[in-house]
Amino acid sequence: MNPIYLDHAATTPVHPEVLQAMLPFYQELYGNPSSTHSFGRAARTALNRFRDSMAGALGCLPAQLVFTSGGTESNNMAIFGLLNAQLDGKKHIITTQIEHHAVLHPYERLESLGYEVTYLPVGPTGLIQLEELEASIRPDTALISVMYVNNEVGTVQPIEQIGQLARGRQIPFHVDAVQALGKLTIDLGALPVDLMSFSAHKIYGPKGVGALYIGKNVMLTPHTLGGSQERKRRSGTENMAAIAGMSKAVELILPQLQDIGQHAWELRSLMISRLEQQLGTEGFTINGSLEQSIPHILNISFPGISTETLLMNLDLEGIAAASGSACTSGSLEISHVLQAMHLPENVTNSAVRFSFGMGNSKEQIEIAAHKIATIVGRLRTR
Ligand SMILES: Cc1ncc(COP(=O)(O)O)c(C=O)c1O
Repeated sequence: MNPIYLDHAATTPVHPEVLQAMLPFYQELYGNPSSTHSFGRAARTALNRFRDSMAGALGCLPAQLVFTSGGTESNNMAIFGLLNAQLDGKKHIITTQIEHHAVLHPYERLESLGYEVTYLPVGPTGLIQLEELEASIRPDTALISVMYVNNEVGTVQPIEQIGQLARGRQIPFHVDAVQALGKLTIDLGALPVDLMSFSAHKIYGPKGVGALYIGKNVMLTPHTLGGSQERKRRSGTENMAAIAGMSKAVELILPQLQDIGQHAWELRSLMISRLEQQLGTEGFTINGSLEQSIPHILNISFPGISTETLLMNLDLEGIAAASGSACTSGSLEISHVLQAMHLPENVTNSAVRFSFGMGNSKEQIEIAAHKIATIVGRLRTR
């Protein structure tokens, strides 16, 4: 039985060309980019090339990208770095109830330090209301953070409009774009965003590397002090192999966005239609909105069957899916995202996230849908 991986929102396999791009930095190109000899200079030249290439692909200046250890660090660096650099005493932050924990937990820490945080609610599709965001802005609002694409239900927030609102009020705007990179076109030259977080392992790059975009005139207090790498914004010897991998992953995926999106759309439609055929339209519910989300993520509930039971049975049949974000998928915790969407308990406690990737075929989806429906049918008649 060949296992079927339907958990690409948790992580993706490393693309073979990405791996090839990384290997030289473990072999002949092992110089430290801060060294002045030829080994160091070769690494520095490569590092500049990777930064230039990524900046070109994302529409920003190379100096506006800082390489980090991933989405979590990028979010932490954006939030704490910005607030620590502000000297105007503003202590109010606006975010949403459905952010990833790599945003929510920093804000919880800041609350314990005296900041006030407004967590915007979402509707049943997982979207925030712009009017609600506007109404929550205060004279002491120091930062607005809204994720681009939700990692559990795939909802896409209106980042451009939020950014325009923030710009109009001169409030810095941070966007967690970890699930948007490789799915949506991102042109940082056109988007009204001040800080944007990225991660490589969601786009067929290696784990443990990411980037933070820092817009013009945005001041951050560095969270690591040391050898002054990354223009003193993140000290520490650069993870050259990982950066090489991330740059290659971005280079490979961005020209294919449309094809990859179309493929995901076909897989998602196939999965839904096969489940409808076997379980009936009443046999499951789709969480979120099929229109206002990326097609790569499909969150479905099978009322009457607990998420844990279903995931375990799917795993036994070789199908890898998730209950939500990877951090909580090992636990029985009910997703804070589905709770924020005010879905009934029998929906939140039976939700499973399937996320599609480049390596998935229609044949795999046919097999997976059949197995899912068979397991659901069996568990329901038990
Ligand atoms: C929306 C979002 N933000 C942040 C992260 C954290 O990224 P990383 O795993 O690179 O630290 C993830 C990972 O699941 C995510 O989905």
